[in-house]
Amino acid sequence: MINVEVAAMTPKDIEGVLIVENLSFTIPWSRQAFDDELTKNEFSRYVIAKVNGNIVGYGGMWKVCDEGHITNIAVHPEFRGTGVGSKILEKLIRIAKEECILRMTLEVRRTNIAAQGLYAKYGFQNSGFRKSYYSDNGEDALIMWRDKI
Ligand SMILES: CC(C)(COP(=O)(O)OP(=O)(O)OC[C@H]1O[C@@H](n2cnc3c(N)ncnc32)[C@H](O)[C@@H]1OP(=O)(O)O)[C@@H](O)C(=O)NCCC(=O)NCCS
Repeated sequence: MINVEVAAMTPKDIEGVLIVENLSFTIPWSRQAFDDELTKNEFSRYVIAKVNGNIVGYGGMWKVCDEGHITNIAVHPEFRGTGVGSKILEKLIRIAKEECILRMTLEVRRTNIAAQGLYAKYGFQNSGFRKSYYSDNGEDALIMWRDKI
């Protein structure tokens, strides 16, 4: 079992987060997007996962009234399947509990079986699709919810 530390993301982490981001998504977020999330969006909550001092993953959500909307979770390809994504999601759920969030939700690509498995492991259930949600390939989004946070 590798030792994973999860902590709040700060602007100085963006450099490392971008490496994971660019290796993980076809339409990666920009440096500016992360900076805005950390410095301008009072409803955002972002965390990083570190192994041996290096950033290997991150995740985030928005607090929308009593709901937590997960925006993204990504793990460096070399560290996938080792429990890092689980640690990140556990931390987001812990933050949600501390902030009296009652339900959490997210959208995930219909074909993204790994991410759906991660969310299902933590009690998220399928609740429908958004047709052609992703602009790069027109893929549907699966909407998942977890009640009773
Ligand atoms: C989705 C992602 C974050 C999972 O992170 P991870 O660190 O590999 O996840 P974990 O090792 O903690 O695995 C947690 C659970 O996810 C599921 N899972 C992970 N990889 C899987 C795979 N390749 N196939 C099927 N299920 C998988 C399993 O249910 C696993 O539970 P288990 O270990 O008890 O079997 C990672 O694959 C990733 O970064 N993908 C690219 C970015 C992405 O798609 N993000 C999601 C956007 S919504």
